Amino acid sequence: MEVNKAIRTRRSVRKYKDEKLPEQTIRELIELAVWAPSAVNNQPWAFVVLEDREYLKNLSGRAKTFVLERLDKLPHLEKYRSMLGNPDLDIFHGAPALVMIYSPKTLDTYVNDCSMAALNLMLAAWDRGIGSSWIGFARGIGNTPGVKKELGVPEEYQLVAPVILGYPEGSTASVDRKPPQILSWRK
Ligand SMILES: Cc1cc2nc3c(=O)[nH]c(=O)nc-3n(C[C@H](O)[C@H](O)[C@H](O)COP(=O)(O)O)c2cc1C
Repeated sequence: MEVNKAIRTRRSVRKYKDEKLPEQTIRELIELAVWAPSAVNNQPWAFVVLEDREYLKNLSGRAKTFVLERLDKLPHLEKYRSMLGNPDLDIFHGAPALVMIYSPKTLDTYVNDCSMAALNLMLAAWDRGIGSSWIGFARGIGNTPGVKKELGVPEEYQLVAPVILGYPEGSTASVDRKPPQILSWRK
C-alpha cells in the first residue's frame, strides 16, 4: 500500500475476526516497528506479545478495575465510568494479539521513541490488511509490578504503548480530522 494511503485509511479497529495472526507476521511487524526514529538512536523499546486469550480476558478485567479505582484522579476518563463498569466489556475488543511496547527509563525521550515505534507497527499492520488500536486503558495495569512479573518484564521498564492487532471484522467507520492548525509560518 502506498504510504499516503496507509496513513489516511488506517483506523483504530474495535471489531476483529476470531482468527490468529501468523507468528511470522507479528515478528515482521515488530521488526518494522524498530525502524522508527529514536532520540540519539537509543532504540529503547522492548516488546511483549500476548496471544493467550484467557490471559487477555483476565488482563482486561484487571485493567478496568485499575482505572475505575483511580477515576477520581483521572477526570478526563470520568465519561467512561459506566462503560468500564460493564463486566462484558473487553478493552482489547476481542483482538487475537496484543503487542506491548515497554522501555527502560534511560532517557526522558522513551515515550516519544516508543510511540514512534507503535505508529510504525500500526501502519505496517494496516499495509497487510491487519487492524490495530492503541489501548491506553491497559497502560496502568501493564505497569504494575504483578503484571511485569507475570510477563517477564524487568521492574524498571515502563509500558508506553499497548497495541492490539487482528484481522478486522467488517469495515471501520471513518473518523474526521480537524484541519491542521498552523500557528505561524515565517518565510
Ligand atoms: C494514547 C492513545 C490511547 C488510546 N486508548 C484507546 C483505548 O483505550 N481504547 C480504544 O478503543 N482506543 C484507544 N485509542 C484510539 C483512539 O481512540 C483513536 O486513535 C482516535 O479516536 C482516532 O481514531 P483513528 O485511530 O481511527 O484515526 C487510543 C489512542 C491513543 C493514541
